[in-house]
Amino acid sequence: MASSLKNKAPRQREPLVLELIPENLLREPIEYIFADHYRLRQIIATMDRLLTEGVYAQPPTDEAIAADMAVIHAYLRDELSPHIADEEDDLFPRLELRSPADYETKQILATLHQEHEEDLALIQPLVSGHADLLAGKPVANKELFETSVVRFVETQRRHIVWENNIILPLARRRFSVEDMEEIGRDMAARRGLEYPA
Ligand SMILES: [Fe+2]
Ligand SMILES: [Fe+2]
Repeated sequence: MASSLKNKAPRQREPLVLELIPENLLREPIEYIFADHYRLRQIIATMDRLLTEGVYAQPPTDEAIAADMAVIHAYLRDELSPHIADEEDDLFPRLELRSPADYETKQILATLHQEHEEDLALIQPLVSGHADLLAGKPVANKELFETSVVRFVETQRRHIVWENNIILPLARRRFSVEDMEEIGRDMAARRGLEYPA
């Protein structure tokens, strides 16, 4: 038994696959955001690996790497902005409203807001850099692309930890059923989805 295991070829890396978030979870919008954080963490981990392995230096020749890059590209292009809007336009303002005189929370929200501003500025160089590589071309603005990848990977990890460990638990405790429904409806509309019955 042990010897047959030993003789196996080295395990291939798992391809990057982002599970779709069930639309029903829009009825529990904080859990929807939490699920999106899991997917964003997968994106960051893969970007970090591609960076460390020097893969971003030239267009991918390996199909598996190109497939991972395509998943990253699509997430950054289509999903990151709505995620940030869920937080900036729904989660954060409502949490402020439900946290009068909680200055510590306001401080944390202000920091996270600044980081969102920076994320939004990074989206364009990140998306166009991945698009260049996927088109088999060298990245047009290589230096900006590489510093953007490093910065994004660096800041997101801590950002998500703060949101998951401080902001989401506060929202779960402080939001009413009506708050949850209003946020869920906004998030559905943002994605062109029906609010689940
Ligand atoms: Fe955020
Ligand atoms: Fe987030």
